[in-house]
Amino acid sequence: MYTEKVMDHFTNPRNVGEIENASGVGTVGNAKCGDIMRIYLDIDADGIINDVKFKTFGCGAAVATSSMATELVKGKNVQEALQITNKAVMEALDGLPPVKVHCSLLAEEAIHAALWDYAEKNNIIINGLTKPKSDIHDGEEEVEY
Ligand code: FES
Repeated sequence: MYTEKVMDHFTNPRNVGEIENASGVGTVGNAKCGDIMRIYLDIDADGIINDVKFKTFGCGAAVATSSMATELVKGKNVQEALQITNKAVMEALDGLPPVKVHCSLLAEEAIHAALWDYAEKNNIIINGLTKPKSDIHDGEEEVEY
């Protein structure tokens, strides 16, 4: 059911933890399953993401996608990080079972929420970033599995 990469990131997740005095923190939840994700970003004066950590109260797919997402955004600038979609994360994991696709949205939304927090704290506008939903179930299309 899960690819080797998903199993690897689930059993050995990268970047778990929190960052004190983070540049941006984003928390999102999914009402459908009750899972919660929090992402911490450490962003330097040049807008480069030097460090990223996550904590989740979520399923295995949420852990694996968050682990991969944090690996993908680390070292990137803010604009590049914004381009990392849940699709890109899933591709990097060699795919997820269809019923688990919604789990990958938690990581993407949490990163966007953390970037939004960073932008608000620094009074800047990040092109292409809209105010994140606090609950990814909002506006989610109804999908029959
Ligand atoms: Fe909720 Fe996966 S089942 S995030």
